[in-house]
Amino acid sequence: MSIAEKFLAMEYGPAPEDPKEALTWLDRHGRRFGHFIDGAWRPPVEGVFFDSTDPATGEKIATVSQGSAADIDAAVQAARKAFPKWQSLTPHARARYLYAMARAVQRHSRRLAVLETIDNGKPIRESRDIDIPLVARHFYHHAGWAQLIESEFPEYVPCGVVGQIIPWNFPLLMLAWKIAPALATGNTLVLKPAEFTPLTALAFAEICQEISLPPGVVNIVTGDGSTGEALVKHADVDKIAFTGSTEVGRAIRRATAQSHKRLSLELGGKSPFIIFEDADLDSAVEGLVDGIWFNQGEVCCAGSRLLMQESIAEALIEKVRDRMSTLRVGPPLDKAIDIGAIVAPVQLDRIRRLVDQGVAEGATCWQPQIEMPSRGLYFPPTLLSNVHPTSIVAQQEIFGPVLAAMSFRTPAEAVELANNTVYGLAACVWSESINVALQVAAQLKAGVVWVNCTNLFDASCGFGGYRESGYGREGGREGLLEYLEPSWFKHAPALRAVERLPGDSPGRQQQTESAIDRTVKLYIGGKQVRPDSGYSIEVRGGNGELLGEAPLGNRKDIRNAVEAARKAATWARTTAHNRAQVLYYMAENLSLRRDEIARRLAAVVGEIQAAKEVTAGIERIFSYAAWADKFDGAVHNPPFRTIAIAMNEPLGTVGIICPNEAPLLGLLSLVLPLLALGNTAVVVPSETYPLVIGDLYQVFDTSDLPGGAVNVVTGCTSQLLKTLAEHDDVDAIWCFADEASAVAAKSFSVGNLKQVFTNEGRSIDWFNAKQGEGRWFLRHATQVKNIWVPYGE
Ligand code: NAI
Repeated sequence: MSIAEKFLAMEYGPAPEDPKEALTWLDRHGRRFGHFIDGAWRPPVEGVFFDSTDPATGEKIATVSQGSAADIDAAVQAARKAFPKWQSLTPHARARYLYAMARAVQRHSRRLAVLETIDNGKPIRESRDIDIPLVARHFYHHAGWAQLIESEFPEYVPCGVVGQIIPWNFPLLMLAWKIAPALATGNTLVLKPAEFTPLTALAFAEICQEISLPPGVVNIVTGDGSTGEALVKHADVDKIAFTGSTEVGRAIRRATAQSHKRLSLELGGKSPFIIFEDADLDSAVEGLVDGIWFNQGEVCCAGSRLLMQESIAEALIEKVRDRMSTLRVGPPLDKAIDIGAIVAPVQLDRIRRLVDQGVAEGATCWQPQIEMPSRGLYFPPTLLSNVHPTSIVAQQEIFGPVLAAMSFRTPAEAVELANNTVYGLAACVWSESINVALQVAAQLKAGVVWVNCTNLFDASCGFGGYRESGYGREGGREGLLEYLEPSWFKHAPALRAVERLPGDSPGRQQQTESAIDRTVKLYIGGKQVRPDSGYSIEVRGGNGELLGEAPLGNRKDIRNAVEAARKAATWARTTAHNRAQVLYYMAENLSLRRDEIARRLAAVVGEIQAAKEVTAGIERIFSYAAWADKFDGAVHNPPFRTIAIAMNEPLGTVGIICPNEAPLLGLLSLVLPLLALGNTAVVVPSETYPLVIGDLYQVFDTSDLPGGAVNVVTGCTSQLLKTLAEHDDVDAIWCFADEASAVAAKSFSVGNLKQVFTNEGRSIDWFNAKQGEGRWFLRHATQVKNIWVPYGE
């Protein structure tokens, strides 16, 4: 071809990145790696190794160690030993180490980018220009947090030793998302990289040596799922942070239920990419290329479901096909490549299988006629149209370069389709109308919404999912809180049998009503209803006398209560000011009935405590009425011409198991933060004094609280808890009873991976406002949604 012909064709020639530096580094290690434990390289105890291969060529790159339970144990011990000293370093000293990490990542960026590309198969353009710069940014940002940690989080302490498990799609970036916040908050850690992509984690281990990080602060153990399992099960790990598939996330939830390990899960997604008819279609198509073909579509937040407004669907599909025809698939070290290799044969098989299944279910498969490499693991960019919303390709994460397209007519239909998934990680909305875009963004069940942009990430903005996409956030303030505990809670004593205040004894108060008058009903949908079973339980006072009867609620009652709570979702849409007004009204009504409520409660908890509970309860209502319009989100300024609006959104419907030790105040302390922020609740009052509901439903009824916002079902706590935790329409469980209940709440909630907030069997002083109210509860009553909005031309 002549130069003139080349110029006209504008064909790219090959432009391979020079891998020399990375290969030299591998050679320097003899292409064989042990684990990084206690600041040194250690061979695996059981002597088992496996190969890491280049998916673009199938060639072996290096041999790495298969971590056993013994290796994990050694690493956890090293982290435990290093913890006290690391925790007690000054914030500035920790900040310097994180800063040094950021600098070292930049210094070795070329080596790291090439290692990432040959290990994972992703285009060098992406590892060089996106992954590695974001890694450096994450360490810089968290060096800043390390410096500020004591002044910004004065009453918090680190969790301790953290176990971190990461996937293969963004190996070093996921490492940074895990390690930077853990270290900035004073934790030590053991990290297990994915078996397909361990190399950049090992290069990072060397960086830890290079900057003289104290031994044991960061430990890296390579291996497969069994190594991860050993880390999850290790008794001396205080927290597990996991990114990967929803299936493994569930297994981890189950495996940690018996322990007090904190847990954060960043799981799969099936994110909608919504294009309205008034969108700038060319920009939207470019966005879509990034949304689904970035990193071969092996992205948890990939825009894998294209939802197009019907009026533009045909034109849009045409544009998408044209653009797909210009994508270049090939050797990832070539700088002009758009789509690299798929990480491993098993993943390629999975993509093929799912696409075949989608086609068998009626989807039309279109792939551009583009050149494909003759060897290596590649899959062409693929468009599936005529996809039914229930098809496997519309519901399951494919984790490959495959887009499933569907159409909608109205914004309401777009929202319904978008939310028609068990996941809730991310979403894109394209519209030139800010009204439409923000209105839709607010209704999407997703932790991140990109308006007229896609796949933007920044260390200052929390990232994480709703629903089965997991819980917890990475990045920003909320990401740090995943690695911190309130100091009082960390040191709270185990819950003991209920103790009375000195000089107080239950039942001293003369009962003025006969037991027959104190038979209460369930409270569902704003109405008093009889229990499905028709049975009641006797409630006795501290002296053993019969105080009354409470209904024996069962599964059906819980289901009715959940249905009523879901119907009351409009509570979330009332203004925060109005919610505050309702709460103030509640305080007024409780105040009016203060004496009679205290008198009845005294039969169970004693006169002194009863009076204190009512007084503190009224104050607590005031606190949350105050908080209702003050627990604001934030506006982040990531380093692009974009703002990210972090909204504190309610979780939805929450099941509450109340503590025994303060039947009235405990219940109020849990219900109020949830109500203040727009959640609805199904409450199981304490077994010691379920009759409390008899007083409360009158307070609720007279305070303009909409029917269904709070529902109360009395009965046997363990049975009701199981039904609540297993119910797919319950979004979270707050369980503040004994240790066994905490374990049950976590075990039974694996189905839809609902969030579980418990006292871990520890004692909470509900009378102490520092423990019994405030931000700790409010944070658990909300989930952060980041809405990214670009500005400028
Ligand atoms: P995976 O969830 O099995 O692997 C993620 C990490 O967890 C790896 O480090 C793995 O070794 C570890 N692991 C596996 N089993 C474990 C266990 N029982 N206990 C503790 N750790 C364990 O994901 P996999 O098999 O690599 O990919 C399967 C599918 O998962 C993909 O096709 C994709 O759909 C999804 N996936 C989602 C990711 C996300 O970020 N949302 C990341 C990776 C995969």
